Amino acid sequence: MSPNVRAVRGMNDILPGETALWSRLEEELRTWLAAYGYREIRTPILEHTGLFQRAIGEVTDIVEKEMYTFIDELNGESLTLRPEGTAGCVRAVIEHNLLFDGPKRLWYLGPMFRHERPQKGRYRQFHQVGVEALGYPAPELDVELLLMTARLWRRLGIAPHLHLQINTLGGATARARHRAKLIAYLEAHEAELDEDARRRLYTNPLRILDSKNPAMQALIERAPRLMDELDEAARAQFDAVCAALDAAGLAYHVNPRLVRGLDYYNDTVFEWVTDRLGAQGTVCAGGRYDGLIEQLGGRSAPACGFAIGLERLLALLAETGWTGAEPPADAYIVHVGAAAGRVALGLAERLRDAGLRVLLHGAGGSFKAQMKKADASGARFALILGEDEAAAGEVSVKPLRTAGEQLRLTPERAAEMLLAARQSQP
Ligand code: HAM
Repeated sequence: MSPNVRAVRGMNDILPGETALWSRLEEELRTWLAAYGYREIRTPILEHTGLFQRAIGEVTDIVEKEMYTFIDELNGESLTLRPEGTAGCVRAVIEHNLLFDGPKRLWYLGPMFRHERPQKGRYRQFHQVGVEALGYPAPELDVELLLMTARLWRRLGIAPHLHLQINTLGGATARARHRAKLIAYLEAHEAELDEDARRRLYTNPLRILDSKNPAMQALIERAPRLMDELDEAARAQFDAVCAALDAAGLAYHVNPRLVRGLDYYNDTVFEWVTDRLGAQGTVCAGGRYDGLIEQLGGRSAPACGFAIGLERLLALLAETGWTGAEPPADAYIVHVGAAAGRVALGLAERLRDAGLRVLLHGAGGSFKAQMKKADASGARFALILGEDEAAAGEVSVKPLRTAGEQLRLTPERAAEMLLAARQSQP
């Protein structure tokens, strides 16, 4: 094929065989985002180059070598294809004064562009769903973001494959103190530095701690730790995050070497990592960036957020066989007799009020025929209403997918049992 009709390297078509899966994932994401009160924002794919330089930082990999930048020949402006979504989102928030009446929870979804070396899980055009909580100072918001992502993993059935790493970067003065100590330490061991580390020594020494070079690991292990430089406020913020995660029962690993590749972060940073995708195992990443809004010219306001790489998320979902099919109903209601039929309608509504997915048998037929339908529906439980149950205001609950006794319960207890059964699903 003639080379000029090929897609750009690292930029993929999403073909008809794949788009249904993308659409189903996007639907899941919208439902999940709405449950946390996030509202969508759409910003342009092109922004002024200076926005990314100021937001992400001049001496980051992204700005130094990964941006698609060109001069608009019509007016000489330097423009850049967005390498990430936070900068554009914050720019729009400032430009339209969106925080005038209080904090905002915003999300976006779309293509991002980075001129990286393409490999599995790393592309030059890729998609992110990003979330930005703007105007919230409390560490509870950091934790809400983490609980929110954990809920998505559970909902998609990939929770067992994702591990949470967190760290704190503290405030600007702690980082400056640490930077000076780090440079002094690295200078003292200059002979052990690789070329990349030497290049970054005075521009971005923190990133040296992120090096994957095996020869540098011992040196990095002994390096001064930012954690030791934190002032009291930053330590309290981090302790509050850890305590709230413990209280919520969400497992995490504190990784003092987690530094992130963008300069706007302070205090909490985090990554959700999987070992199922090879080298590109970070599926979701983010943290707090309390200084960015002011730095870009807005009125000072705290913020935090994260972005999920959709190609990586879909690759992980493919590993685990996710098809995006609707989850099975929690219960199929079987009812025999006219009185039971009337009770069944009310029972189905009450269970749905409790958040359960319920199928009500809609035609007559014997008990046996109805139980066959219940089984074929894929529902987890059959709820059986006969004359006896209807008269007693109770219902018989029979597990269909697991071994277990049939139990006679009040509707409230039955709802609790069904909800508990759903929670225990992966
Ligand atoms: P980031 O760590 O640069 O953060 O990217 C977030 C996620 O996007 C990564 O964890 C990964 O899943 C995906 N990703 C990044 N680069 C590529 C690539 N070349 N190919 C495929 N996937 C990729 C940010 O972008 C921040 N804006 C996140 C954030 C939002 N922080 C606060 N709010």
